[in-house]
Amino acid sequence: AETHYHDFVIQATPVKRLCKIHNTITVNGQFPGPTLEVNNGDTLVINVVNRARYNATIHWHGIKQIRTAWADGPEFITQCPIRPGGSYTYRFTIQGQEGTLWWHAHSSWLRATVYGALIIYPKEGEFYPFLKPRRETPILLGEWWDANPIDVVRQATRTGAAPNVSDAYTINGQPGDLYRCSSKDTTVVIVDSGETNLLRVINAALNQALFFAVANHKLTVVAADASYVQPFTTSVLMLGPGQTTDVLIDGNQPPGRYYVAVRAYASAQGPFDNTTSTAILAYKDTPCSVQGIKINPIFPSLPAFNDTATATTFSTSFRSPRQVDVPTEIDENLFFTVGLGLNNCPRGVSRSCQGPNGTRFTASMNNISFVLPPNFSILQAHHQGIPGVFSTDFPVVPPVKFDYTGNLSRSLWQPVRGTKVYKLKYGARVQVVLQGTNIVTGENHPIHLHGYDFYIIAEGFGNFNPQTDTAKFNLVDPPTRNTASVPVNGWSVIRFVASNPGVWLIHCHLDVHITWGLAMSFLVENGVGELESLEEPPVDLPVC
Ligand code: C2O
Repeated sequence: AETHYHDFVIQATPVKRLCKIHNTITVNGQFPGPTLEVNNGDTLVINVVNRARYNATIHWHGIKQIRTAWADGPEFITQCPIRPGGSYTYRFTIQGQEGTLWWHAHSSWLRATVYGALIIYPKEGEFYPFLKPRRETPILLGEWWDANPIDVVRQATRTGAAPNVSDAYTINGQPGDLYRCSSKDTTVVIVDSGETNLLRVINAALNQALFFAVANHKLTVVAADASYVQPFTTSVLMLGPGQTTDVLIDGNQPPGRYYVAVRAYASAQGPFDNTTSTAILAYKDTPCSVQGIKINPIFPSLPAFNDTATATTFSTSFRSPRQVDVPTEIDENLFFTVGLGLNNCPRGVSRSCQGPNGTRFTASMNNISFVLPPNFSILQAHHQGIPGVFSTDFPVVPPVKFDYTGNLSRSLWQPVRGTKVYKLKYGARVQVVLQGTNIVTGENHPIHLHGYDFYIIAEGFGNFNPQTDTAKFNLVDPPTRNTASVPVNGWSVIRFVASNPGVWLIHCHLDVHITWGLAMSFLVENGVGELESLEEPPVDLPVC
């Protein structure tokens, strides 16, 4: 195994998109940021230097960080932010993971532009469980704002209103030729005729689940969230923010140019408008024009923005390639509601209550809207025994039972704010029912757990029924993921074994929802002996 050293300089860089130059926060002046390529078993040492005027941290999304929670990255959870002018070296080893992950900033909305791919090849001398593709291309889906994303979220927090939606979706940082001033800002993905190509698709968008399709080409899914799956073929992918999907695509069509297109799914922001982003899949050596006449690529058919049937068909097609060791018994049976809320405002404070009917938007798990501690990270407070930073009384069942997916009155449930964690004993076998609610609106929530992969053993619509829905549990070959798309007005059930000590955030990967508090943290205690315990913090760990 190898050790890879990298320098990441977070800095403002001029980036031209949608007709204008923007002073954009990037890593090393690149947008999207650098692609990291490693083998399973390798160690990464990344020195992050913050030359931007914002606090920053980097999270290695999906990396298990076994015993190295200090390198996980979410601000105020496992570290204090790296202040402007500061630096921090992240050091971690890849243990038993292969496929596509990514890295992103985990501070305010910085990840809108601070993100990149993290590709993990099999160990030296080992191979993919499928035929080696001729070419491999990372495809990062993103969102672009004309305004500074940090200002967008600050404004929303100040007013209590929903933040402005993005101005474009992007593919490898480019909006594509359907957007204004963007005919040259279109990503071209080269494939070889008669060969198999691998696309590593990553949804790095801030706030939007996305459909993905390629005109006239079928996609064979072979991995997701850096775990292999039983291959299946589809014409459209759906990825929630945070999720990755590796697909094989055969160059079996007449050589030419085909659109790769991305469109919003399950947007609370209303129906499809002008938000279809494109790239071009081009067979190698295909000209753009013949005798001066431009050949327009063919457009794929994409599902409508509210096509939950297609999204569900896709998300329920995942199986692990072999029988897996999903815990059959559980020690912790947890039930978390995930959804939005509205907080009333005290009379006369309307400036900060510009949500529906003079309320503020909020979000919660089990009625607790998660608040980051201001002066310590939770992990540091836990490790050093600093009192008063967090409490361990997170309720693991909702305080009120109701028809979660019904048409609810807005007065029913107003979350309370708190920095509450839930303690898990080392090695506990945990089940979490993630129950979507329909408070304000039902949405597809991509729920991401740090520090672990989990099995998704079932999903469904309506209220989870512990009497009957357990019959749907797949305890044989459920998929391994780090982000579960909880269906709109439905539920997902996940299981994992708490064998990684530390403090691990679980949250909705729609950043607007984490801003509003749709998160909590697990505190996993040390086991016995050094190999079951958290390492000591690095000496350069940022302090607040
Ligand atoms: Cu990809 Cu907490 O994040």
